Amino acid sequence: MLSVDGLTVRAGDVELVHDVSFGIAPGERVGLIGESGSGKSLTALSLMGLLPEGVTATGRARLGEHDLVGVPESRLKRLRGRELSMVFQEPMTALNPLMRIGAQVAEVMTLHGRPRDEARARAVELLDRVRLPEPAQIARSYPHQLSGGQRQRVMLAIALANDPSLLICDEPTTALDVTVQKQMLELIAEVAPALLFITHDLAVVASVCERVIVMYGGRIVESGPLREVFSRPRHRYTQGLLAASKLTPRGTRLPTIAGSVPPAGRFPAGCVFRNRCPHATPQCETAPDLTGDGHAYACWHPAEENPAQEHPAEEHAADPAADRADH
Ligand SMILES: Nc1ncnc2c1ncn2[C@@H]1O[C@H](COP(=O)(O)OP(=O)(O)OP(=O)(O)O)[C@@H](O)[C@H]1O
Ligand SMILES: [Mg+2]
Repeated sequence: MLSVDGLTVRAGDVELVHDVSFGIAPGERVGLIGESGSGKSLTALSLMGLLPEGVTATGRARLGEHDLVGVPESRLKRLRGRELSMVFQEPMTALNPLMRIGAQVAEVMTLHGRPRDEARARAVELLDRVRLPEPAQIARSYPHQLSGGQRQRVMLAIALANDPSLLICDEPTTALDVTVQKQMLELIAEVAPALLFITHDLAVVASVCERVIVMYGGRIVESGPLREVFSRPRHRYTQGLLAASKLTPRGTRLPTIAGSVPPAGRFPAGCVFRNRCPHATPQCETAPDLTGDGHAYACWHPAEENPAQEHPAEEHAADPAADRADH
């Protein structure tokens, strides 16, 4: 349904996202993970046609029969909020503080041609669908009268208003407390027609998605079924990410991946991870291709398929969901 092929994002001559390809089937929930600065948001914003000033995307992305990259803004405007919608981290900045909730939900429908009365009625239905208590009363409220969790539900109602075929969420629950976050994640997983879910929280991705894409340095370094990637990571970056997410019994973090993410444009040539990778060899100066059906990875020296042979102690790190209660 969504197919992205060779998506590259640049700011001037600096490449921020390089040759990214993936697909999402109807009903599928795909997680996009990676450290800060890995290119997750820019990938999503390219699909929405919402890249910042001075940043451009090339390559191909199609949603159903619609092209998303390299098409005029007027065409994207018709698709945004209708064929695909996005929920961002901070709902307060996205809502108009001077407009009642119901009117804001209705507006995204009238903008796409739905009659006003019908849109008003459906707005209340949508507020109910995202499990807001007393939806008619919420519709008459202003954003400041709602809690952060309720405002995020309103954003989800707005995103769903025109029955999009794809929902993109970028760190939608980072600002919420843990209990509210859990309910919100369950709701997103339930209502999304198909989902691209961006987060740096591996436990969150494990609770929502069935497939995962790992990005680093603007590239996809590994992708595949979530259980497989999390229990048998092959790329050394994924392996490090999973090990670093593991909390020890005393609640202290294990060492994180050595070094830090370089600024955009400063990644090494060849394998982008090689300057932080304990397994790097001269071969890594040549960029490895992303290979493998289903579970794919771009690494010259992948971890053993059976982790017990190599790092017996790391086997537990493969299930960050088990740590959720500790976060
Ligand atoms: N407008 C811009 N101009 C130049 N560089 C940018 C611009 N926006 C983002 N970048 C750079 O592109 C890289 C990828 O950014 P992106 O926002 O996609 O990262 P991310 O994976 O979403 O990170 P985070 O987890 O912090 O949200 C970063 O190095 C960032 O500094
Ligand atoms: Mg981001």
